[in-house]
Amino acid sequence: MKQLTLFLISIIFLFSNATAQEGFDKLALTPPMGWNSWNTFRLEINEDLVKEVADVFIEKGLKDAGYEFVVIDDGWQIDRDEEGNIITNPDKFPSGIKDLADYVHTKGLKFGIYSDAGYETCGGFPGSLGYEYQDARQYAAWGVDYLKYDWCNTGNQSAPDSYLLMRNAIEKAGRPIVFSMCEWGLSKPWEWGEGIGNLWRTTLDIRPCWDCSKMGHINEVRVENFMGFTKILDLQEGLEIYAGPGHWNDPDMLEVGNGELTYDENVAHFSLWCILAAPLMLGNDVRNMSDEILEIVTNKELIAVNQDPLGRQGKKVRDDGDFEVWSKELNDGSRAVCLFNRSEEEAEFGFTWSEVGLPQNIDFKLRDLWLKEELGKFDGEYKAIVPSHGVVVVKVYN
Ligand code: GLA
Repeated sequence: MKQLTLFLISIIFLFSNATAQEGFDKLALTPPMGWNSWNTFRLEINEDLVKEVADVFIEKGLKDAGYEFVVIDDGWQIDRDEEGNIITNPDKFPSGIKDLADYVHTKGLKFGIYSDAGYETCGGFPGSLGYEYQDARQYAAWGVDYLKYDWCNTGNQSAPDSYLLMRNAIEKAGRPIVFSMCEWGLSKPWEWGEGIGNLWRTTLDIRPCWDCSKMGHINEVRVENFMGFTKILDLQEGLEIYAGPGHWNDPDMLEVGNGELTYDENVAHFSLWCILAAPLMLGNDVRNMSDEILEIVTNKELIAVNQDPLGRQGKKVRDDGDFEVWSKELNDGSRAVCLFNRSEEEAEFGFTWSEVGLPQNIDFKLRDLWLKEELGKFDGEYKAIVPSHGVVVVKVYN
């Protein structure tokens, strides 16, 4: 009798666990794509902005191109009530978060939100420390699909423990929510993040410039805490072994269309994030972007490289000073190859098949993914003229 009871209890346990887990294993099988308010709007966010962004996702074809998540970053919260429930800023979001999430869902999109593992967010609003289960239940009740979880004001908390705690809280709340860990790479989250988060930031914050940087302090250590996209790119080398379906390195949100970036730099930034299998979170004002920027971020052939189901992160395979070759293996055995010219002049350079892991003695076909043109068959190597601060991206296939 005792044995039968134990057997029944384990069946019930297994079943309830399986139900709670349902859907979690299917999250972020390709890098998440969407928009986040931070890079352009900082703390100045409100419900009209978010609704307009959701509308634009449909009107401008962003949804058709694969962008799915509409995410509000820091600044939506204001306080906690006496029972510890998080309070939404009523001036910015008078209709409440549930209403906003519903609106986003009516467009066939997904809704994301932001919190912090410490007692306060980076913007000085209440963090989730001590309220992890309560907040996760609230997010699930609101219909949240994505949580970006930051690392300000965490004192001597352990990052793996803090992120695991929130991950468990989300699972317990029962709604599959993509979990984006924003710990800035401080404790090498790529080494412990798989199984906890679906993506983890690998660096401090990106800025909309080529290679600018600013020094600041993190835990009393002086570091470059704001960086242009090429500096962020350099910090991705070697991390490719840690990425795969459901768990991605996150070199931060896109700055395409922002700040001082030129056309060629925007194309390079977008292409390299596609090659890196990076999450593609637009960070510009998508309501007011130029046609040129829209064309860049909706290049379906580049997006297909990013979203390739094999889930390999591309890596640098050749480095001749200012002339770099980055290559990403694709599911059909082909390669996406990005020639990146960091110099101040246009330059001709290229790669051989063996450098990108293909047999040297076969003729491969090439397609230029920005010109959207077949280039023909090539024998052993390919060279192209690459604009200054720009790229040429080709697919090598047979
Ligand atoms: C940190 C994060 C940013 C953003 C801000 C919000 O700096 O790295 O991406 O979320 O906090 O305050």
